[in-house]
Amino acid sequence: MTRVLFVCLGNICRSPLAEGVFRHYVRKAGLEDHIEVDSAGTGSWHVGEPPDRRMRRTAEAHGISLDGQRARQFEKEDLERFDHIFAMDKENLQDILYLDDGDAYGHKVRLFREFDPEPGDYQVPDPYYGGPQGFENVFQIVDRTARTLLHRLVEEYDLELRQ
Ligand code: 4NP
Repeated sequence: MTRVLFVCLGNICRSPLAEGVFRHYVRKAGLEDHIEVDSAGTGSWHVGEPPDRRMRRTAEAHGISLDGQRARQFEKEDLERFDHIFAMDKENLQDILYLDDGDAYGHKVRLFREFDPEPGDYQVPDPYYGGPQGFENVFQIVDRTARTLLHRLVEEYDLELRQ
C-alpha cells in the first residue's frame, strides 16, 4: 500500500479537493487497494469542519464528492506514516519540514504542482478570501495535476491499471 497525503493551510479548500479528485482517479483506475489517500492542514482553525461549501459545490459541479471529509491538523507522525506528502504552496512545505526535526523525511515531501504540466509558480493559490473564479481555477489546477501524479505513481510502483 502506498500512502499519499495532501496538505494545505486550513484543510477545508485545496487539500480536501486534491484528496477527493485524486481518490476519484484512483478508483477509476481500480487502484483503491494499492493507494491510500488523505489530507491535512498545517493550521488548526478548522479542525473537525467539513470542506468549505464553495469548494464542495465546485467539486460537485465536476462530479466529485467531498462528502464525509473533516479537517484535521497535520502532525509529526504523518511524516512517518505517509510515503508521499504533497504541499499545496511553499509556506505549507516549510511548515511541514519544520516538524521534521531530525531531517529524516524531507525526501517524502514536495510541492504538488511539481507534477502540473503547466506548473506556473508551483503553488496552488489559496481561494479562501477570493471569488468563485478562484475555486474553479483551483479545480482546474488540481484536476490536471492529480491525473499526472497518478500516472507517475503507477510508473514508479509498476501498478496495473484496471481495463
Ligand atoms: P485551504 O484554505 O488552506 O486551501 O484550506 C484556507 C482556508 C481557511 C484559512 C486559510 C486557508 N483560514 O485562514 O481560515
